[in-house]
Order: sequence, then structure tokens, then C-alpha cells
Amino acid sequence: MTEEFDDSFKELEQSVMEDMKRVYSEKTIDHFLSPRNLGEIPAHDGFGRVTGPCGDTMEIYLKVRDGRVMNASFWTDGCGPSIASGSMVTELAKGKSISEAQKITQQDVLDALGGLPEDSLHCTLLAANTLKEAIKDYLAFRKEPWKRAYGVH
Ligand code: FES
Repeated sequence: MTEEFDDSFKELEQSVMEDMKRVYSEKTIDHFLSPRNLGEIPAHDGFGRVTGPCGDTMEIYLKVRDGRVMNASFWTDGCGPSIASGSMVTELAKGKSISEAQKITQQDVLDALGGLPEDSLHCTLLAANTLKEAIKDYLAFRKEPWKRAYGVH
């Protein structure tokens, strides 16, 4: 009985995987199933939260040292492609200077993921826009560091 269950579960798992491969690139599936940089960075230097037109929200946290993104992480309540996009945009931002990170576009995320179906394109835009918000937040706090002590976002 258990063996039968195991076999049918494996078959189901395989067929789900094959369906996903028909729609998404291997990179997207990899970042969706094993997201990098998931979760909050405590004592972050920049934070962005954006809700897209689909109603899903993404958050990005940045740790910045000497004008360079030392660490970046994300959280989302969105779909699989948004998880893959948050994972990829934070990977792209890490190690870049703030001005380089500011230039990361939706297309960069899309290219790095190996493309997405038309109806998931907005998920990469959500990730790129959330990164921009987090950078804006970092730059605003850099000008007025006293606000950080009061937890003003
Ligand atoms: Fe909302 Fe993908 S459907 S972010």
C-alpha cells in the first residue's frame, strides 16, 4: 500500500515537473523551488514594499556598505514566477554599487531567468520596482539618518 502510494506520488511529482518545464525555463523553476535570499535582513539599510496590480506584494531588504549592496533579500506572497523574480533580482543586486543596482531593469530579471510566459511578465516588473523602492529608501535614510532611529519608513 505504502509502496503503491510512493509510486503514484512520484508519478504525480514527475508529471507536475514536466508541466512546469513546458511553461518555465529551468532557471525559473530552480529559483522558484529553491529561492535564494528569502526572508528579512535584520538591521537593514534599505527596505521596499510594492503591491502590484495583481494584488501580490513583494518586500526587499538591503544591507549596504561603502555604497555597495552587501546583501539583499526578499519576501513575497505572490505566485511562483514572483518568487523566482525576487530570488533573481536580489542575486543580481548583491555585490553591485548602488548606482549599478539602480539600473537593474525588468528586462535584466527576465533575461537572467531565461524568459517567462507573457502573463507572468508583470511578476518581474514587481521585483524590479521593489528593488528600486528599497534603493530609494536607502538613499533617503542616508540623507536623514536620524529617521532610522525612529523606525520611520
Ligand atoms: Fe502577482 Fe505574479 S501573479 S506577482
